[in-house]
Amino acid sequence: MLDTTALNQQRNFFDGHTAIWLFGYGSLIWKADFAYLERRPAYITGWERRFWQGSHDHRGTVESPGRVATLIRTEGAVCHGMAYRITPEVLAPLDIREKNGYLREKVPLTFFDDNGDTAEQSEGLIYLASEDNPAFLGEAPLAEIAQQIANAHGPSGPNRDYLVNLAKALRELGAKDAHIFALEQKLSSF
Ligand code: SIN
Repeated sequence: MLDTTALNQQRNFFDGHTAIWLFGYGSLIWKADFAYLERRPAYITGWERRFWQGSHDHRGTVESPGRVATLIRTEGAVCHGMAYRITPEVLAPLDIREKNGYLREKVPLTFFDDNGDTAEQSEGLIYLASEDNPAFLGEAPLAEIAQQIANAHGPSGPNRDYLVNLAKALRELGAKDAHIFALEQKLSSF
């Protein structure tokens, strides 16, 4: 299993900043177990959320990996999530949480204001599991992905909870995500 913790500690895109915007698109939306100064709904463009990353350490095991979210480059796509303003010290525990294949990347974020209109933009950080990481599982028929999620359990709990919590959080944000809602629907039959 590749551990990306040390690699991420060299990816200091925001060196010298006293606060950084972190954009969460997966468990970071609904499981904010880290300190943050502020959070705001936001989106990124050119990326689509997919359950194509394997989880051997949180929502599955080495023998029976689960599936968790990553982002795939897709022109014109919009991915909704939650942005957190954090201090740089928070990155060390996040690097450990995201160690199974996720690397820090810098992306432009767009925020929503209180009326739901888009407001200003800022550079932010995401944890991205790209196609060349060893835990990447890639595309599969939705029913197969849902079945794998239904069967997988790991130290952080059932893989099912990750998907159900993410779908719920996206509905609360008023976000559309056909892949996630279709998977949630399939999961309900297992
Ligand atoms: C994220 O949530 O932004 C990264 C992937 C995950 O931890 O689920």
